[in-house]
Amino acid sequence: MKDITIAIDGFSSTGKSTIAKLLAKALGYVYVDSGAMYRAITFFAMKKGLITTEYFDREALISALPNAHVSFKFNSDLGFAEVYLNDENIEKNIRTLEVSNLVSIVAAVPEVRAQLVKIQKAIGKHKAVVMDGRDIGTVVFPDAELKIFMTASAETRALRRYNEIKNNGEDITLEAILENVQKRDHLDSTRKDSPLLKAEDAIEVDNSNVTIEEQFQNILKLVNSVLNA
Ligand code: DC
Repeated sequence: MKDITIAIDGFSSTGKSTIAKLLAKALGYVYVDSGAMYRAITFFAMKKGLITTEYFDREALISALPNAHVSFKFNSDLGFAEVYLNDENIEKNIRTLEVSNLVSIVAAVPEVRAQLVKIQKAIGKHKAVVMDGRDIGTVVFPDAELKIFMTASAETRALRRYNEIKNNGEDITLEAILENVQKRDHLDSTRKDSPLLKAEDAIEVDNSNVTIEEQFQNILKLVNSVLNA
């Protein structure tokens, strides 16, 4: 069977990564969480003291970018690839609210985007990849055979992120998460470079009131229609 590229875009916590991971597993494809890469660079900037909620040394981050090597390593116990920064596993460090609050600022820097998009394109060179993010169908893989644009209400998404962060042991309120989700929606869709946009040929899927299994089956049908076309 031919291999294809599947691009899944949408606002934060729409369930993109859950569906993308399931699809990749079912198809034997590589799954890439591109948001994790922007989070990794944000964590790098935080560690170097280049960004806080009050301060951002954009030029210093741009100069330091050649020293920030972001990569993925497959964890067979988890069944997906974890993100590494200069050979350090930072999968847990990048899911905090602190990173979530700063990542949209870092992701708006064109030099950061150029560095990460280059890696993303290289990973997808041989197809057989499911990548989720904000600009996958528009910028990274404009020729992807299947493009999904996922939506869900801000409240549904905040609750999802809340449960995820709670499971990580962080003490946080639902209100703070909802505020973060709404702020990021705004920043991600209004930035100059590669804003979150639905590609013209993307299929919009609303994920608010369906179970993961239902959504997975719906999207699998879309995949099969492309594979059998
Ligand atoms: O998917 P996520 O919430 O983990 O993504 C974190 C941030 O990274 C998000 O607020 C916007 C940014 N991002 C991006 O600009 N482009 C992508 N392809 C993926 C994520």
